[in-house]
Amino acid sequence: MADAPRPLVAGNWKMNGLLAGREEARLVAERIAARPAACDVLICPPFTLIAPLAKTLDKSAILRGGQDCHPAQSGAHTGNVSAEMLSDLTCSHVIVGHSERRADHGESDVLVRAKAEAAISQSLTAIVCIGETEAERDRGETLDVVKRQLAGSVPYAATAASVTIAYEPVWAIGTGRTPTPDDVAEVHGVIRNELASRFGQDGHGMRILYGGSVKPANASELMSVANVDGALVGGASLKADDFDGIIEAYR
Ligand code: 13P
Repeated sequence: MADAPRPLVAGNWKMNGLLAGREEARLVAERIAARPAACDVLICPPFTLIAPLAKTLDKSAILRGGQDCHPAQSGAHTGNVSAEMLSDLTCSHVIVGHSERRADHGESDVLVRAKAEAAISQSLTAIVCIGETEAERDRGETLDVVKRQLAGSVPYAATAASVTIAYEPVWAIGTGRTPTPDDVAEVHGVIRNELASRFGQDGHGMRILYGGSVKPANASELMSVANVDGALVGGASLKADDFDGIIEAYR
């Protein structure tokens, strides 16, 4: 079996952050430089902050990513941003299919897959988000939902380098509630099996992140669960102290 992938701690700033937010990113970079961690670190700010952050983080190991991209390379799509534009601004990753986009913009698995394919075509790593709602969980459908979203959203040609999965139970996002480590282990184990049966060695090497109310206080426990290869962090990625406190799980 392939070695476990190097972990990734990714911050999703969502629709938060003005130019002043660069200072938080700079502080995180400073702390990582002083006390390196055995993980990659990524910040996905709003589109408006990608270029300023790229400058701030110029000499740092912190990677940058987008929170969404359009499936097309360019054209008449008012308000959208393409994978090529993200790549042009030195992004290495882009989040696709976040549950907030699936809910707010009605994004389907088919659309999410097209976005992931657009990302891969520009040599970006697509972070494909999946996860059940509370109602689905209450009906005992968690594993079915996760398998269906994986089958529908992950590109056919995905590799360990081109795709990362983020399991984010919708009911855990921004609520302070998290699944138990046993629940996380079960879902991540199923995701790993699905990926391995579809992509072989690449499926074993693909990162599977956990997201949903990850904080400094629970990061070590969640990150030590089998098949958890890092975190996708929302609220706690906005403050350097909190984000660095999560990265601490890998020091
Ligand atoms: P919170 O960490 O704020 O729960 O958000 C998780 C998330 O949605 C990251 O993409």
